[in-house]
Amino acid sequence: MDFQLTEEQQAVKAAARDFAQNVLKPGAIERDEKQEFAKEEIKQLAELGFMGMMTDPKYGGSGMDTVSYVLAMEEISKIDSSVSVCMSVNNSLVCWGLEKFGTEEQKQKYLVPLAKGEKIGAFCLSEPEAGSDATSQRTTAIDEGDHYVLNGTKNWITNGGSASIYLVIAQTDVEKGHKGINAFIVERDMDGFVVGAKENKMGIRSSDTHTLIFNDVKVPKENRIGEDGFGFKFAMKTLEGGRIGIAAQALGIAAGALELATAYSKERKAFGKEIHKHQAISFKLADMATEIEASRLLCLKAASLKDEGKPIGHASAMAKLYASKTAMDATTEAVQIHGGYGFVKEYHVERLMRDAKITQIYEGTSEIQKVVISRGLLAE
Ligand code: CAA
Repeated sequence: MDFQLTEEQQAVKAAARDFAQNVLKPGAIERDEKQEFAKEEIKQLAELGFMGMMTDPKYGGSGMDTVSYVLAMEEISKIDSSVSVCMSVNNSLVCWGLEKFGTEEQKQKYLVPLAKGEKIGAFCLSEPEAGSDATSQRTTAIDEGDHYVLNGTKNWITNGGSASIYLVIAQTDVEKGHKGINAFIVERDMDGFVVGAKENKMGIRSSDTHTLIFNDVKVPKENRIGEDGFGFKFAMKTLEGGRIGIAAQALGIAAGALELATAYSKERKAFGKEIHKHQAISFKLADMATEIEASRLLCLKAASLKDEGKPIGHASAMAKLYASKTAMDATTEAVQIHGGYGFVKEYHVERLMRDAKITQIYEGTSEIQKVVISRGLLAE
């Protein structure tokens, strides 16, 4: 067991921190307020090679390991999780899914621009009646010979309005249940594809979350990912890795809150001394730091397992479950430490607290992570 980061990993962490503190921080409060997608900033993120971090350079990616991805996600999420969710979906759901399961033609056509960050991807599984119960797909993909015809609605799709390439899960054969589900690559300009309403959200407000509507969208057969009926397993396998990204996002939110609360506790005085000199505050900081370190270790363990090609389902579920709870707890305490200042926008912590909540919901709720963890335990 080696807890040291390599020089390359340290450099990635430093570059991500520098980008977050200098490029993202100045506009983060305003983008949140206006629900404004960080288009220019995400272009710069792509120039750093962070939109296809783990993708093989032969497909336009940076060829980094998952540990580096976790380090970058943590630093960027300390400042702006609206940006890091865009990065996470593009990296670990869209690019990884295509690289692992796509055909060579699909990789050349779609993965290359996605990994370079020239185009943004979205992952479309959730529906009005299929969130946690993901096998209950109502979107249909009827086989018409050389193409499929897609009809239905997808909800809460990250990057919904800014993406050009969408991985869409749909039911081809209802009789076969989850074995009749397929995954497709849909292009934004295909006829019948409509980007619907943008969600007005509590947190990650500058991320671009939309409803998507499919009205008789003709998708060529070569855009199906994997064998007929592979779609549900494709979604599950891809989400296993995606959950490491969201766990790292939650870790970053918590660690960002701790950095702010620690700095504030050294500046703010009450009852004649800096507030960190009151045990009520220093013990809060100690609890936050310990839970954050535990979250970090769970994230890095899941990432290391992925890099070693080992099973990650349970490790990624544990990392996401624990880190997302830590994000809620640590941000709530950070607001408390800031007192009245914590409740106003300028101090960033209220935004971190609002952003933390989604990490317990998307890419599998905390309850779903417990289903995955307990099923694994009981199967042993
Ligand atoms: N890898 C491979 N196959 C898997 C798998 C995995 N991790 N998990 C399940 N499967 C397979 C099962 O083996 C089974 O196949 P067989 O019948 O051939 O054995 C099939 O999938 C169905 O599995 P279950 O019977 O376990 O299905 P279930 O209905 O009980 O559901 C679940 C399992 C874990 C609860 C799943 O539905 C789930 O993960 N739900 C949460 C969905 C989710 O995470 N949504 C997030 C949306 S995406 C998002 O948020 C992105 C974003 O924009 C930020």
